[in-house]
Amino acid sequence: MDVFVVEGGRRLEGRIRVGGSKNAALPLMAAALLTDHKVTLRDIPNLADIQNMKRLLAELGCHRINESAPDSDGVHVFQNTDQTECHARYEIVRTMRASICVLGPILAKRGMCRIAMPGGCSIGDRPVDLHLRGLTALGAQITYEAGDIIARVPPGGLRGTTIFLGGRFGSTVLGTANVMSAAVLAKGTTVIESAACEPEIVDLANMLVKMGAKITGQGSPRITIEGVKELGSVDHRVIADRIEAGTFIAAAAITNGDLTIENCPIDAMLSATDRFEAAGVDIRRVNGEDELMRATIRVTAGRVIKPVEFTTQPHPGFPTDLQAQFMALLCLADGNSVITERIFPERFLHVAELSRMGANLFRQGSTVIISGVRRLVGAPVMASDLRASACLVLAGLAAEGTTVIHRIYHLDRGYDRLETRLAAVGARISRVDDKTVPAAATE
Ligand code: EPZ
Repeated sequence: MDVFVVEGGRRLEGRIRVGGSKNAALPLMAAALLTDHKVTLRDIPNLADIQNMKRLLAELGCHRINESAPDSDGVHVFQNTDQTECHARYEIVRTMRASICVLGPILAKRGMCRIAMPGGCSIGDRPVDLHLRGLTALGAQITYEAGDIIARVPPGGLRGTTIFLGGRFGSTVLGTANVMSAAVLAKGTTVIESAACEPEIVDLANMLVKMGAKITGQGSPRITIEGVKELGSVDHRVIADRIEAGTFIAAAAITNGDLTIENCPIDAMLSATDRFEAAGVDIRRVNGEDELMRATIRVTAGRVIKPVEFTTQPHPGFPTDLQAQFMALLCLADGNSVITERIFPERFLHVAELSRMGANLFRQGSTVIISGVRRLVGAPVMASDLRASACLVLAGLAAEGTTVIHRIYHLDRGYDRLETRLAAVGARISRVDDKTVPAAATE
């Protein structure tokens, strides 16, 4: 199995480009199920999760018809060739929770969807009750069988209505995507209250509008959808990945580096840049945003990182998907920082691994107090989920000595060739088979 071997202590310097957003691309791909026409998506990142979604869509008769084009081009053209299949099997759904976002499109377009209920997740409890609450409000009849959810459209079809979609932890991103995708083909008007405001939801709504949907309010907690009979074709470029951009900013900061980050959706990540600047990181726009809100920024950081506190929240608050990466940085801050995780209260599997590298962390429930240390030391560590893996890569870049990161398949789900891109700006990081790593470095 592959591991990353990271030699720490090198400043990162140079230019690095942010790719298309994984969390925007997945619901956009699922939305291809909503139309009989071609859907062309551009800047789709080359990731394991994208491959999983492509496989799921193919099983559901929605094929990528430009298969000969290399994935690295990022252009995917989808076409529904067989709309009889309505079952998203457990074998695929268990590999990727985001499979759930085919539920709304399949239900609305084909009248019935059977999908495996997503199982456990290392970042914590992730029910789909809000998704089902929204679809039930549109009239769907939901039953359960052998670990599957079975959703059926009632005679007369789905009907628009007003839905409150807020839950214990606030809005739901993929729940909003599912309900919005179903409502575009429902009869009448749907109002989603406490909708997710994430840029990925705005991107989905904008693409659906280009396909002929009638949606307003995307980006605000109240989205209104006027149902239409059918949707047309579309050619859409996915937004840039704000979480990858935030990971690169943290990489520059933790190595006291100097990175120029291109294609950065800076306007979609103001809560994160606010905290980075509070920690003493200098972020300058090198040029203004283009029509797709992407800019080039220059990130530099001095030797002293200041302690900060933050609480993760739904957008536009601080994103939970940057919590782990920011924690790695604060391990080296000059003082005590406090992080509270409000979205996934158990999302702290990286804490024990950072402690193995000499970090001084104290967890109390969904809050972690980080007492900054002068240095981290390289060690063998275990990745547990996508963002925790990124956190360990960052800690390894700053640590003295060698860090060996196991289970990096988690990382490949959300970062395209991370080691190559970081090495291009000065990191000493390589992907090797764990059998070739000297025993000492893996114990
Ligand atoms: C999306 O997951 C992202 N995934 C996650 O990114 C991200 O962490 C999360 O949003 C929050 O920003 C994708 O977009 C593919 P939620 P999603 O429904 O939609 C609770 C990454 O690292 N909830 O917004 O599944 C839930 O348990 C991944 O890229 C219910 O209670 O998250 C959580 O506490 C990890 N009932 C909170 O709401 C529901 O029906 C927010 O979850 C749905 C959610």
